[in-house]
Amino acid sequence: MPIPKDSSVCNQLYSRKNPAFISISERILLTKPESTKKTFHFVLDIRNTAITFKPGDAIAIYPENDPLIALEVSQLLQQDLKQQIYYARSSKTLSLYELLVKEKNISRLTSSMVKTFCSYTQNPQEKKQLEELLHPQSKEHLVQYLTQTNVIDFLKTYAPINIPLEKFCENLSPLLPRFYSIASSQLAHPDRLELTIVLVEMKKNNCIQYGTGSHFLCNLAKLEETKLAVYIQPTIDFTIPEDSTAPIIMVGPGTGVAPFRSFIQERLIKGHTGKNWLFFGERNRKYDFFYQDFWENLVTTKKLNLDLAFSRDQEDKVYVQHKLLMQASKIWHWLKEGAYFYICGDAKQMSKDVEKALEQIICSQGKLSQEEALIYVKALKKQKRYVKEVY
Ligand SMILES: Cc1cc2nc3c(=O)[nH]c(=O)nc-3n(C[C@H](O)[C@H](O)[C@H](O)COP(=O)(O)OP(=O)(O)OC[C@H]3O[C@@H](n4cnc5c(N)ncnc54)[C@H](O)[C@@H]3O)c2cc1C
Ligand SMILES: NC(=O)c1ccc[n+]([C@@H]2O[C@H](COP(=O)([O-])OP(=O)(O)OC[C@H]3O[C@@H](n4cnc5c(N)ncnc54)[C@H](OP(=O)(O)O)[C@@H]3O)[C@@H](O)[C@H]2O)c1
Repeated sequence: MPIPKDSSVCNQLYSRKNPAFISISERILLTKPESTKKTFHFVLDIRNTAITFKPGDAIAIYPENDPLIALEVSQLLQQDLKQQIYYARSSKTLSLYELLVKEKNISRLTSSMVKTFCSYTQNPQEKKQLEELLHPQSKEHLVQYLTQTNVIDFLKTYAPINIPLEKFCENLSPLLPRFYSIASSQLAHPDRLELTIVLVEMKKNNCIQYGTGSHFLCNLAKLEETKLAVYIQPTIDFTIPEDSTAPIIMVGPGTGVAPFRSFIQERLIKGHTGKNWLFFGERNRKYDFFYQDFWENLVTTKKLNLDLAFSRDQEDKVYVQHKLLMQASKIWHWLKEGAYFYICGDAKQMSKDVEKALEQIICSQGKLSQEEALIYVKALKKQKRYVKEVY
């Protein structure tokens, strides 16, 4: 029997400590096989849950580590994965396999792990090396070492070592949930929750290493079978305007486009008449234009303005902020009409560059000084008309 959904109470049922369990019903590769990256569309089945969400919310998903990595760790430690071990954090006894696959981050090396190895090693040369690394004056070096070295690299250098297994496990950080912006509207699709996830791949010494959460979801989890532990992370301000007539400008390159698919679905189903404008960017038009039909149909039916920036289709990079600058006068016009301005995606560089472009547009089109433009942006933020979801 379907569970009645009242958003004010339902999401309180699920939390970090009390997740819902759901399965993946569809996982479709959005990028073409020739693409240099792999981005997937996910459909999660929420029929037998009381999960509710609104546009802009994210879902938190507990990942699992690759069992092959857990096996390699256990072999380097010369330990049997079947043995039972007490896990103090949740006051329970479980197998080493379960602990390494489900509970601990077995990629990230911690400084406490380096310290523990330093105190247990009987090898004078290794002890000296580790002491040097831990010396207060080499703090920067330690930070760099920890970002460049994962647990397996570290074990390959310093194991086997006579360190109690419990002590080793204590020094691993917990395996934390990963967050994903929801890419569908629950009003439009009540029984499903859709996501857009890029598989994180890092090249290291000619090997490919995957990000834990994206590898689990994109490669390891079995359709209809694997139970994902999840809860909703609601947004406060990163959502569609209450005013159904307000125009919205959405800047979402890469997976940053995900929440805007939900925004548009919701606005359409609610009959909002406010104008919609999307700036989307990816590497190559031919291989990486996700949801192309969906966006192009909206353009054809005059429900969406669409500007595209395919960065690798020509010699010089073309990014979403370049497209914004090319549309400066129209953007200014929309802002004067009360438009909301949203950014989603990369926090390291993209969102900063887009914010600079927005300031530039306000400066040039509004004939304002740089200081006045900053005040204008601050006012937009205060009115919740300039909102970001960046990661
Ligand atoms: C609110 C919110 C919404 C998000 N929405 C989405 C979404 O819709 N779709 C989506 O795909 N992701 C989204 N993310 C990012 C997502 O939560 C994970 O961070 C991402 O999947 C990487 O996690 P991982 O476990 O695969 O990698 P990890 O195992 O956490 O990363 C491994 C290492 O790689 C580095 N790293 C991380 N990402 C990359 C990368 N792409 N390339 C190279 N190195 C990297 C990290 O610094 C880390 O050292 C969102 C994050 C937040 C906070
Ligand atoms: N550290 C890394 O090497 C790396 C790699 C991929 C993704 N990521 C992270 O993974 C997350 C999501 O990745 P994603 O696959 O969704 O998309 P993404 O990597 O953010 O890429 C989407 C598009 O944005 C472009 N882009 C790169 N720098 C930009 C900038 N400064 N301003 C505007 N656009 C820019 C990319 O171009 P180009 O790629 O051609 O420059 C690409 O066309 C982000 O947090 C991102 O930081 C990191």
